[in-house]
Amino acid sequence: MSQSSEGLLPEESEEALEWGRKYFTLPIQFVLGAASLSQIPVTERIEVAFVGRSNVGKSSLINALLNNNNIARTSSTPGRTQQINFFTLGDEMMLADLPGYGYAKAPIEQVAQWHELIFNYLRGRVELRRVLLLIDARHGIKKNDMECMDLLDKTAVNWQVVLTKADKVKKGPLDKIYKATFEMIQKRPAAHPKIIITSSEKQKGLEELRASLAWLLRA
Ligand code: GTP
Ligand code: MG
Repeated sequence: MSQSSEGLLPEESEEALEWGRKYFTLPIQFVLGAASLSQIPVTERIEVAFVGRSNVGKSSLINALLNNNNIARTSSTPGRTQQINFFTLGDEMMLADLPGYGYAKAPIEQVAQWHELIFNYLRGRVELRRVLLLIDARHGIKKNDMECMDLLDKTAVNWQVVLTKADKVKKGPLDKIYKATFEMIQKRPAAHPKIIITSSEKQKGLEELRASLAWLLRA
């Protein structure tokens, strides 16, 4: 992606922030939860998917972005989201909340089923314009995140790292994790150059992320 003369991406401009704020006040609706590929809704909207390890905060981030406390169901117990849940935003965007990967305590067959659903969805969904890969700011990138990155690079879908739960980390360690994450994505061909640091709890990074997503409709 090209950078402007100030070194900012177009999606970081005042115009994009304003557009993001506006777009994310449009009506939202839960569409359905898909337990298999055949149930995934047909759409002409552009789609943004939220993926990451179990419990990283995918559903919470959707709620925070949409300013709605419970449209996406969250839980302190990993494995809350067991289907791909689809939400429409305005007339042009669809958000997909995926089950998390890497939840070791779930029954083996169930884990295998979720993983197959996630990977087949990511491989085959042509409407996908951006995948947000959520990484817990306390822990950084783990082995199964790298496997997910490999898959995303293979499918050539544009993906972006979002650090979550930043409210739980002090500035020093957060800077370290940010730098390490940044270095790790440098050589990834399909990675978006910008990492967004968020806290759903403290409403941090949401304006930036709204702008980044809403800009997909304008770019
Ligand atoms: P699965 O659906 O199981 O894959 O989990 P998920 O990634 O959707 O996580 P979810 O949004 O359900 O959040 C998991 C836990 O983390 C919940 O207890 C949330 O309250 C908590 N959580 C999510 N985001 C934040 C955050 O920004 N800060 C803090 N402190 N806690 C958070
Ligand atoms: Mg969830």
